[in-house]
Amino acid sequence: MVSNIISLNNRLIFFFIFVGVLLSFISCKDDEDDGGMVVSECVDLTDIAFFTEKKELALPEGFQPINQPLDNEMTVQGVLLGRHLFFDPILSADSTKSCGSCHGVDGYFTDNLATSPGIDGVRGVRSAMPLVDLVYSENGLFWDGRSPSLERQALLPVEDPIELHDTWDNVEAKLRRSDIYPALFRKAFGIAETCDITRDLATKAIAQFERSIISMGNSKFDRVFYKRIGFLSDSEERGKRLFFDEDLGGQFLPDAECFHCHSLPIFTDNSYRNNGLTFFTEDTAMDIEDKGRYEATKEKRDIGLFRVPSLRNVEFTAPYMHDGRFETLEEVLDHYICGIQQSPTLDVLVTNHCDPEDEILFISEQDKTDIIAFLKTLSDTTFFSNPEYQSPF
Ligand code: HEC
Ligand code: HEC
Repeated sequence: MVSNIISLNNRLIFFFIFVGVLLSFISCKDDEDDGGMVVSECVDLTDIAFFTEKKELALPEGFQPINQPLDNEMTVQGVLLGRHLFFDPILSADSTKSCGSCHGVDGYFTDNLATSPGIDGVRGVRSAMPLVDLVYSENGLFWDGRSPSLERQALLPVEDPIELHDTWDNVEAKLRRSDIYPALFRKAFGIAETCDITRDLATKAIAQFERSIISMGNSKFDRVFYKRIGFLSDSEERGKRLFFDEDLGGQFLPDAECFHCHSLPIFTDNSYRNNGLTFFTEDTAMDIEDKGRYEATKEKRDIGLFRVPSLRNVEFTAPYMHDGRFETLEEVLDHYICGIQQSPTLDVLVTNHCDPEDEILFISEQDKTDIIAFLKTLSDTTFFSNPEYQSPF
């Protein structure tokens, strides 16, 4: 009898301890809805192994060694996390769009639209840029250079009302609750618990992924110029000489001046220039809608200047220019040959080439065809199937 009472008591005590443990376990795992406020509990992650491997990039011939910020060097695990975040609509308010929606690998990390609709269908005034070889963009990001680093840049689209239109507080909460991200953040950055997932680490990982996107150096131009394999066709070779202001075996060719701004090996010098898209005078300068570099510096001499884009894979990045105004490379060349608009900040290297009387400057239809043929030798279709650039979802 006595022993029976003791064992009943014992069983009750065990039962209550069991229920208590179960409850605390459940409340630790779940988020409690506390009067509309989401209270995130921190879940311990230290059981997941943490070790990182340095991410090595295969740089094409002619490319300089890369620089990385010392506090965010690329690791295999960091780049993998960044690739997930980049392609995951979890970063947008209604889970419909990701960075990859406007910077898709099929379009060489642009969307082939003049302007891009965000989650609410509202469009900005500028064309999405291809995010390739950005590790070499050390002179500011965006068409006007207003963002100093990839880490800082990646903060912006999430809260931009015409892009992903979410808040970072909300995105952090979603990432902490997710099934996959706590482990991916632990493996990339060694965080101890889910509450250590922050926008700072998320943008670091996205920046690592972006730095790992390098054009692959398998274009016809790369094979002939850097690897000395094969030859360009006669038309491509003439186009190359026009582009680089070289004559052709004693035969005079007009200087198209392209290479000064679109310089080797990425076909940009990352400077800001006015290539004559918009006509304006001293008096009307402040009236143009998109003042380019001026938006970042507020210096009048920067009105109408935009960052020189890379021309690698340019065949696949239409439409062209900061506002996507040209649909084809033919239209781009027509601009450089006969469409240059005068303005006080026009670059000295651009001028019209359409006067047939001008033997030195005149660029003919044949020259135009040849320059376009040369631009197409910069196409590298191996880029698009690189497994490291694909969405992991
Ligand atoms: C709605 C479309 C859209 C979305 C979504 C979007 N972008 Fe962009 N992105 C753009 C446009 C447009 C520009 C050019 C803006 C400018 O120059 O003012 C740009 C420019 C950039 C640049 C500058 C590239 C350079 O060469 O200077 C980077 C880097 C970038 N985006 C990364 C991202 C990342 C990371 C995300 C996700 C967090 C993202 N973008 C989401 C449209 C988008
Ligand atoms: C003075 C510097 C300069 C010279 C010279 C120059 N460009 Fe450009 N190029 C630019 C700038 C700046 C842009 C972007 C302008 C903008 O969008 O506002 C650009 C844009 C382009 C684009 C569009 C790329 C894209 O992705 O949108 C192509 C193609 C191009 N240039 C080809 C050429 C060719 C071919 C020549 C020679 C005939 C040439 N450029 C000469 C500065 C230059």
